[in-house]
Amino acid sequence: MAMDQNELKKTAAIKAAEFVEDGMIVGLGTGSTVTFLVEAIAKRVQEEGLHITGVATSKRTGKQAKSLGIPMKTIDEVPHVDLTIDGADEVDKNFQGIKGGGAAHAFEKVVATSSTKNIWIVDETKLVDTLGKFPLPLEVIPYGSTKVFDRLQNEGLNPKFRLNDDGERVKTHSDNYVIDLYMGHIDHPHLLANWLISQVGLLEHGLFLDIVNTVVVGTQDGPKILEA
Ligand code: A5P
Repeated sequence: MAMDQNELKKTAAIKAAEFVEDGMIVGLGTGSTVTFLVEAIAKRVQEEGLHITGVATSKRTGKQAKSLGIPMKTIDEVPHVDLTIDGADEVDKNFQGIKGGGAAHAFEKVVATSSTKNIWIVDETKLVDTLGKFPLPLEVIPYGSTKVFDRLQNEGLNPKFRLNDDGERVKTHSDNYVIDLYMGHIDHPHLLANWLISQVGLLEHGLFLDIVNTVVVGTQDGPKILEA
């Protein structure tokens, strides 16, 4: 019987947990795939007596990891991060990706760029030829956010403020707004990333470029490790 998307995510997460070694400082991403990862790492901590320190990229990941007995520190309390494992929303064949479906992309990027190695865990539906079908998340500071929005719209990037179920603007852990760009396809991710990050008031974007060289993919034939 075919595995559903969640089962595929779980197989990738369990496989990726094998990359964690004793003594490591491990960045823990955010999202449903990472939930399976945290369980798998916690199991290794309990069963193998692995000594690691976790660094969470969101409150929900931190809470789960702590509750399962993984010793945690904040990113500012550790000298560096050895390995970060995170989910992604889209990954192309050059290992470039979009993240931020869970609005945690700014914290995730801080941890990822402080990490010696980064691994993504995805199910096979997230592998794409061209990025951009998944709306690209941005984090913008509330002050002047309509001005940033107008600039994005004038550039034809099709922005929309992300709303919660009550129709209110979603806020990140830093109390910023999320704007998603419904572009359909992103032909020049590096050019777009450079333009976005130069916009005043735009704190971070969900293009994660040249960050990862290992992707663990949950496929119907089992988890596959892709190396750049
Ligand atoms: C969180 O902001 C995101 O970057 C997630 O890592 C990404 O959306 C993947 O989420 P799932 O594992 O829930 O699909």
